[in-house]
Amino acid sequence: MKIILLGAPGSGKGTLAKKISRDFEIPQISTGDLFRACVKAENELGKKVKSIMESGALVPDEVTIEIVKERLQQPDCKKGFILDGFPRTVNQAKALEKISQIDSVILVDLANEIIVERLSSRRTCPNCGEIYSVEDNPEGKCKKCNSKLIQRDDDKPETILHRLEVYERNTSPLINFYSERLFKVSSSGTPEQTYQPVKAFLEKLEAKA
Ligand code: AP5
Ligand code: MG
Repeated sequence: MKIILLGAPGSGKGTLAKKISRDFEIPQISTGDLFRACVKAENELGKKVKSIMESGALVPDEVTIEIVKERLQQPDCKKGFILDGFPRTVNQAKALEKISQIDSVILVDLANEIIVERLSSRRTCPNCGEIYSVEDNPEGKCKKCNSKLIQRDDDKPETILHRLEVYERNTSPLINFYSERLFKVSSSGTPEQTYQPVKAFLEKLEAKA
Protein backbone atom coordinates (compact mmCIF):
# COMPACT_ATOMS: atom_id res chain seq x y z
CA MET A 1 0.00 0.00 0.00
CA LYS A 2 1.45 3.31 -1.12
CA ILE A 3 0.00 6.31 0.66
CA ILE A 4 0.56 10.04 0.80
CA LEU A 5 -0.30 12.07 3.91
CA LEU A 6 -1.20 15.59 2.92
CA GLY A 7 -1.95 18.37 5.39
CA ALA A 8 -0.74 21.62 6.88
CA PRO A 9 2.20 21.73 9.27
CA GLY A 10 0.99 20.56 12.66
CA SER A 11 -2.19 18.98 11.31
CA GLY A 12 -1.07 15.64 12.75
CA LYS A 13 0.55 13.84 9.79
CA GLY A 14 3.42 12.44 11.83
CA THR A 15 1.17 11.26 14.67
CA LEU A 16 -1.14 9.48 12.20
CA ALA A 17 1.73 8.06 10.13
CA LYS A 18 3.20 6.29 13.15
CA LYS A 19 -0.09 4.48 13.83
CA ILE A 20 -0.51 3.43 10.18
CA SER A 21 3.11 2.29 10.03
CA ARG A 22 2.70 0.15 13.15
CA ASP A 23 -0.55 -1.56 12.09
CA PHE A 24 0.03 -1.94 8.34
CA GLU A 25 3.77 -2.65 8.66
CA ILE A 26 4.93 -0.13 6.09
CA PRO A 27 7.63 2.51 6.69
CA GLN A 28 6.85 6.15 7.43
CA ILE A 29 8.92 8.33 5.13
CA SER A 30 8.96 11.85 6.51
CA THR A 31 11.01 14.25 4.39
CA GLY A 32 11.15 16.57 7.42
CA ASP A 33 12.70 13.75 9.51
CA LEU A 34 15.14 12.88 6.70
CA PHE A 35 16.29 16.51 6.49
CA ARG A 36 16.49 16.88 10.28
CA ALA A 37 18.73 13.77 10.40
CA CYS A 38 21.06 15.43 7.84
CA VAL A 39 21.17 18.63 9.92
CA LYS A 40 21.98 16.62 13.04
CA ALA A 41 24.74 14.71 11.20
CA GLU A 42 26.10 18.07 9.91
CA ASN A 43 26.65 16.53 6.45
CA GLU A 44 26.70 18.50 3.15
CA LEU A 45 22.94 18.30 2.68
CA GLY A 46 22.36 19.19 6.33
CA LYS A 47 24.44 22.38 6.01
CA LYS A 48 22.48 23.32 2.90
CA VAL A 49 18.99 22.84 4.38
CA LYS A 50 19.49 23.99 8.00
CA SER A 51 18.69 27.68 7.52
CA ILE A 52 15.90 26.96 5.02
CA MET A 53 14.13 24.72 7.54
CA GLU A 54 14.65 27.14 10.41
CA SER A 55 12.94 29.87 8.38
CA GLY A 56 9.99 27.59 7.54
CA ALA A 57 10.60 27.78 3.77
CA LEU A 58 10.64 24.74 1.48
CA VAL A 59 13.83 22.93 0.54
CA PRO A 60 14.31 23.18 -3.28
CA ASP A 61 12.37 20.60 -5.30
CA GLU A 62 15.44 18.98 -6.96
CA VAL A 63 17.03 18.23 -3.58
CA THR A 64 13.80 16.92 -2.07
CA ILE A 65 12.86 14.75 -5.05
CA GLU A 66 16.33 13.17 -5.05
CA ILE A 67 16.26 12.26 -1.35
CA VAL A 68 12.80 10.66 -1.71
CA LYS A 69 13.79 8.80 -4.88
CA GLU A 70 16.77 7.26 -3.08
CA ARG A 71 14.73 6.38 0.00
CA LEU A 72 11.99 4.65 -2.03
CA GLN A 73 14.59 2.39 -3.62
CA GLN A 74 15.38 0.79 -0.29
CA PRO A 75 14.10 -2.77 0.25
CA ASP A 76 11.72 -1.89 3.11
CA CYS A 77 9.60 0.13 0.65
CA LYS A 78 8.80 -2.87 -1.57
CA LYS A 79 5.56 -3.68 0.28
CA GLY A 80 4.50 -0.05 0.40
CA PHE A 81 5.14 3.17 2.30
CA ILE A 82 3.60 6.28 3.83
CA LEU A 83 4.90 9.54 2.48
CA ASP A 84 4.62 12.10 5.29
CA GLY A 85 5.27 15.63 4.05
CA PHE A 86 6.01 14.77 0.43
CA PRO A 87 4.98 15.93 -2.13
CA ARG A 88 4.61 19.55 -1.08
CA THR A 89 4.55 21.22 -4.49
CA VAL A 90 2.86 20.35 -7.79
CA ASN A 91 6.36 19.88 -9.23
CA GLN A 92 7.17 17.27 -6.59
CA ALA A 93 3.83 15.52 -7.24
CA LYS A 94 4.57 15.31 -10.96
CA ALA A 95 8.06 13.95 -10.26
CA LEU A 96 6.59 11.34 -7.90
CA GLU A 97 4.29 10.08 -10.66
CA LYS A 98 7.42 9.05 -12.58
CA ILE A 99 8.88 7.28 -9.54
CA SER A 100 5.92 5.35 -8.11
CA GLN A 101 2.21 4.62 -8.40
CA ILE A 102 0.31 5.95 -5.36
CA ASP A 103 -2.85 4.15 -4.12
CA SER A 104 -4.35 6.86 -1.99
CA VAL A 105 -3.90 10.35 -0.59
CA ILE A 106 -5.10 11.12 2.94
CA LEU A 107 -5.76 14.76 3.72
CA VAL A 108 -5.41 15.58 7.43
CA ASP A 109 -7.58 18.60 8.08
CA LEU A 110 -7.36 21.00 11.04
CA ALA A 111 -8.18 24.68 11.62
CA ASN A 112 -5.18 27.02 11.74
CA GLU A 113 -5.96 28.26 15.28
CA ILE A 114 -5.67 24.72 16.67
CA ILE A 115 -2.54 24.09 14.60
CA VAL A 116 -0.77 27.06 16.18
CA GLU A 117 -1.71 25.83 19.67
CA ARG A 118 -0.60 22.26 19.01
CA LEU A 119 2.72 23.20 17.42
CA SER A 120 3.55 25.61 20.23
CA SER A 121 3.15 22.80 22.74
CA ARG A 122 4.73 20.00 20.67
CA ARG A 123 7.83 18.24 21.98
CA THR A 124 9.75 15.61 20.01
CA CYS A 125 12.26 12.95 20.89
CA PRO A 126 15.59 13.75 19.19
CA ASN A 127 16.57 10.10 19.42
CA CYS A 128 13.57 8.05 18.18
CA GLY A 129 11.32 10.76 16.68
CA GLU A 130 8.31 10.10 18.93
CA ILE A 131 5.88 13.05 19.08
CA TYR A 132 4.26 14.46 22.26
CA SER A 133 2.58 17.57 23.55
CA VAL A 134 3.60 19.29 26.77
CA GLU A 135 0.15 18.48 28.18
CA ASP A 136 0.43 14.73 27.72
CA ASN A 137 4.11 14.59 28.65
CA PRO A 138 4.89 17.25 31.27
CA GLU A 139 7.97 15.29 32.46
CA GLY A 140 9.68 15.94 29.12
CA LYS A 141 11.10 12.40 28.85
CA CYS A 142 10.46 10.06 25.89
CA LYS A 143 8.24 7.16 26.97
CA LYS A 144 9.92 4.87 24.43
CA CYS A 145 13.62 5.56 24.87
CA ASN A 146 13.82 7.86 27.91
CA SER A 147 15.65 10.65 26.02
CA LYS A 148 15.07 14.28 26.98
CA LEU A 149 12.43 15.80 24.68
CA ILE A 150 13.18 18.94 22.65
CA GLN A 151 11.20 21.69 20.94
CA ARG A 152 11.79 21.84 17.19
CA ASP A 153 13.57 25.00 15.95
CA ASP A 154 10.74 25.70 13.51
CA ASP A 155 8.04 25.55 16.21
CA LYS A 156 8.45 29.22 17.19
CA PRO A 157 5.28 31.32 16.72
CA GLU A 158 6.58 33.49 13.83
CA THR A 159 7.97 30.47 11.96
CA ILE A 160 4.73 28.54 12.44
CA LEU A 161 2.78 31.34 10.74
CA HIS A 162 5.26 31.42 7.87
CA ARG A 163 5.00 27.64 7.42
CA LEU A 164 1.20 27.96 7.26
CA GLU A 165 1.53 30.61 4.51
CA VAL A 166 3.95 28.42 2.58
CA TYR A 167 1.48 25.53 2.87
CA GLU A 168 -1.39 27.67 1.60
CA ARG A 169 0.60 28.95 -1.36
CA ASN A 170 2.64 25.92 -2.45
CA THR A 171 1.06 22.78 -1.05
CA SER A 172 -2.70 23.35 -0.87
CA PRO A 173 -2.98 23.21 -4.73
CA LEU A 174 -2.25 19.48 -4.32
CA ILE A 175 -5.75 19.02 -2.88
CA ASN A 176 -7.05 19.68 -6.38
CA PHE A 177 -4.25 17.73 -8.02
CA TYR A 178 -5.24 14.60 -6.08
CA SER A 179 -8.99 15.26 -5.89
CA GLU A 180 -9.90 11.86 -7.35
CA ARG A 181 -7.83 9.89 -4.86
CA LEU A 182 -8.43 11.98 -1.74
CA PHE A 183 -9.65 10.68 1.63
CA LYS A 184 -10.23 13.53 4.04
CA VAL A 185 -10.07 13.17 7.82
CA SER A 186 -10.42 15.79 10.53
CA SER A 187 -7.81 15.65 13.30
CA SER A 188 -9.77 17.88 15.67
CA GLY A 189 -10.48 14.88 17.93
CA THR A 190 -7.95 12.76 19.78
CA PRO A 191 -5.17 10.93 17.87
CA GLU A 192 -7.15 7.67 18.23
CA GLN A 193 -10.39 9.28 16.97
CA THR A 194 -8.45 10.61 13.99
CA TYR A 195 -6.95 7.22 13.23
CA GLN A 196 -10.11 5.08 13.36
CA PRO A 197 -11.74 6.21 10.06
CA VAL A 198 -8.35 6.11 8.35
CA LYS A 199 -7.76 2.57 9.57
CA ALA A 200 -11.16 1.43 8.28
CA PHE A 201 -10.51 3.11 4.94
CA LEU A 202 -7.07 1.50 4.55
CA GLU A 203 -8.37 -1.94 5.53
CA LYS A 204 -10.91 -1.70 2.70
CA LEU A 205 -8.22 -0.52 0.32
CA GLU A 206 -5.99 -3.42 1.33
CA ALA A 207 -8.82 -5.94 0.87
CA LYS A 208 -9.43 -4.67 -2.67
CA ALA A 209 -5.77 -4.99 -3.67
P1 AP5 B 1 7.99 18.54 8.41
O1 AP5 B 1 8.80 17.90 9.44
O2 AP5 B 1 7.27 17.71 7.43
O3 AP5 B 1 6.98 19.55 9.12
P2 AP5 B 1 5.49 19.99 8.79
O4 AP5 B 1 4.83 19.60 7.55
O5 AP5 B 1 5.58 21.44 9.04
O6 AP5 B 1 4.66 19.18 9.75
P3 AP5 B 1 4.90 18.89 11.24
O7 AP5 B 1 5.85 17.75 11.41
O8 AP5 B 1 5.25 20.18 11.92
O9 AP5 B 1 3.44 18.50 11.73
P4 AP5 B 1 2.64 17.14 11.59
O10 AP5 B 1 1.53 17.32 10.61
O11 AP5 B 1 3.55 15.98 11.38
O12 AP5 B 1 1.99 17.10 13.04
P5 AP5 B 1 2.37 16.21 14.32
O13 AP5 B 1 1.88 14.80 14.13
O14 AP5 B 1 3.79 16.40 14.73
O15 AP5 B 1 8.89 19.57 7.56
C1 AP5 B 1 9.78 20.45 8.19
C2 AP5 B 1 10.53 21.27 7.16
O16 AP5 B 1 11.28 20.41 6.28
C3 AP5 B 1 9.66 22.09 6.19
O17 AP5 B 1 9.27 23.33 6.76
C4 AP5 B 1 10.62 22.25 5.01
O18 AP5 B 1 11.61 23.23 5.25
C5 AP5 B 1 11.30 20.90 4.95
N1 AP5 B 1 10.57 19.93 4.10
C6 AP5 B 1 9.96 18.77 4.48
N2 AP5 B 1 9.38 18.16 3.45
C7 AP5 B 1 9.60 18.94 2.35
C8 AP5 B 1 9.22 18.86 0.99
N3 AP5 B 1 8.49 17.81 0.54
N4 AP5 B 1 9.62 19.85 0.16
C9 AP5 B 1 10.36 20.88 0.59
N5 AP5 B 1 10.74 21.04 1.87
C10 AP5 B 1 10.37 20.07 2.76
O19 AP5 B 1 1.39 16.87 15.41
C11 AP5 B 1 1.60 18.17 15.88
C12 AP5 B 1 1.25 18.24 17.38
O20 AP5 B 1 -0.13 17.96 17.55
C13 AP5 B 1 1.99 17.25 18.26
O21 AP5 B 1 2.29 17.85 19.49
C14 AP5 B 1 1.00 16.09 18.47
O22 AP5 B 1 1.20 15.43 19.69
C15 AP5 B 1 -0.32 16.84 18.41
N6 AP5 B 1 -1.41 16.06 17.81
C16 AP5 B 1 -1.40 15.45 16.59
N7 AP5 B 1 -2.59 14.88 16.34
C17 AP5 B 1 -3.39 15.18 17.41
C18 AP5 B 1 -4.74 14.90 17.74
N8 AP5 B 1 -5.55 14.22 16.91
N9 AP5 B 1 -5.22 15.38 18.91
C19 AP5 B 1 -4.43 16.08 19.76
N10 AP5 B 1 -3.14 16.37 19.50
C20 AP5 B 1 -2.63 15.93 18.35
MG1 MG C 1 5.64 15.75 11.02
